[in-house]
Amino acid sequence: MMPPTATATAVFLSAAPPSFSTRRRRSRLPAISASLSPSSSSSSSEEPLLVRAARGEDGLPRPPAWMMRQAGRYMAEYQALAKRHPSFRERSENTDLIVEITLQPWRAFAPDGVILFSDILTPLPAIGVPFDISDSKGPVIQSPVRSEEQVRELVPIDLDMLQFVGESLKILRNEIDGKAALLGFVGAPWTIATYVVEGGMTNTYTNIKSMCHTAPDVLSGLLSHLAQAISDYIIYQVNSGAQCIQIFDSWGGQLPPHVWEQWSKPYIKQIVSRIKKECPHVPLVLYINGNGGLLERMKDTGVNVIGLDWTVDMADGRRRLGNGISVQGNVDPAFLFSPLPVLTDEIHRVVKAAGPKGHILNLGHGVLQKTPEEAVAHFFDVTRSLRYETLFQGSVAEELQPVA
Ligand code: CP3
Repeated sequence: MMPPTATATAVFLSAAPPSFSTRRRRSRLPAISASLSPSSSSSSSEEPLLVRAARGEDGLPRPPAWMMRQAGRYMAEYQALAKRHPSFRERSENTDLIVEITLQPWRAFAPDGVILFSDILTPLPAIGVPFDISDSKGPVIQSPVRSEEQVRELVPIDLDMLQFVGESLKILRNEIDGKAALLGFVGAPWTIATYVVEGGMTNTYTNIKSMCHTAPDVLSGLLSHLAQAISDYIIYQVNSGAQCIQIFDSWGGQLPPHVWEQWSKPYIKQIVSRIKKECPHVPLVLYINGNGGLLERMKDTGVNVIGLDWTVDMADGRRRLGNGISVQGNVDPAFLFSPLPVLTDEIHRVVKAAGPKGHILNLGHGVLQKTPEEAVAHFFDVTRSLRYETLFQGSVAEELQPVA
């Protein structure tokens, strides 16, 4: 593919039809610089609020916010684009489309984090595992990897095959221009392996779970290969402009905690220690869906931020993790279907429970299909209006007590 130029992207963007969200962009963007200005006098003010919160810096004016799955199908503008480009593989592997889709929520809602539109499975062909996405079945891997021979056939990640990711990140970093953090992401080895071994989505995980006992060497060979490839891929994303990386171990919560300790954590730890060595400035977020039984174990991976799903009470999560690590989350995505004042109260409740330091506001999992765009806009408007000094007036010392 020809590397897109800034002009090509600008032309592409201006060709987008005027929509509800593009109209809203004009009124929202000035608010971003206004909201960032309270922090601009401090020492690391060049860094986006989200990166500073991920590192647990003191003295931020408010928590930064973004949403998992913030770019995608709940947006009318995205649906119109998806009609013109019906293949998800095309939408997620063409630089112009990736950039456009990633910027749609940024223009409409001005979140503090902008996550690349991509998928955790996108790097698979670059390690020798072809896949497809079916509308009805989701991801499909024609030849699930279950034998020693298949593991041997995997190749080191060919980053040339993922140039659209690097190109997109470079363009996005330029477009966002420091007004928000650019987030890259990867799947954790265990979660990617669930697709590679099962051949697609599953409710039971029986093939991969039984492999832990019937073919442990094959599974550990696969996970080690993935850990190496994912580390290389993170470094590539960072070198291309990503300022923070989220590791999605979305299906880690399907394992009993002691099995997660053996089959997911060591491979995440390998990734974390490599990134901490080679890109020490880049904070890492670890998200697991269904992580109530795993919080303390997640902390042991060495990541900077623990993502909480919405079934964990934020105050309990904070008590269990202490204040030495940042947390992310965890408004139930279903609150975006409730009356807006209810959503406002829930945001306030979560922010107060998380405390005035080291919190990235997010949902407890991705934005749901059919979520009203007004509610997403409201979520970010409320966040911009928050001030820790008002929320924690007189109670800061008490709220900051580490309990864990
Ligand atoms: O918005 C849309 O039209 C959906 C586009 C789409 C994505 N992934 C977006 C995505 C499609 C068709 C896929 C394929 C896919 N990959 C599926 C089935 C469909 C779906 O939307 O879920 C599934 C289950 C996967 C696997 C997957 N991808 C997981 C487990 C994760 C981690 C996030 C999570 O939900 O736990 C992803 C990441 C992902 N898929 C992102 C996007 C835009 C990036 C993360 C983000 O934006 O927060």
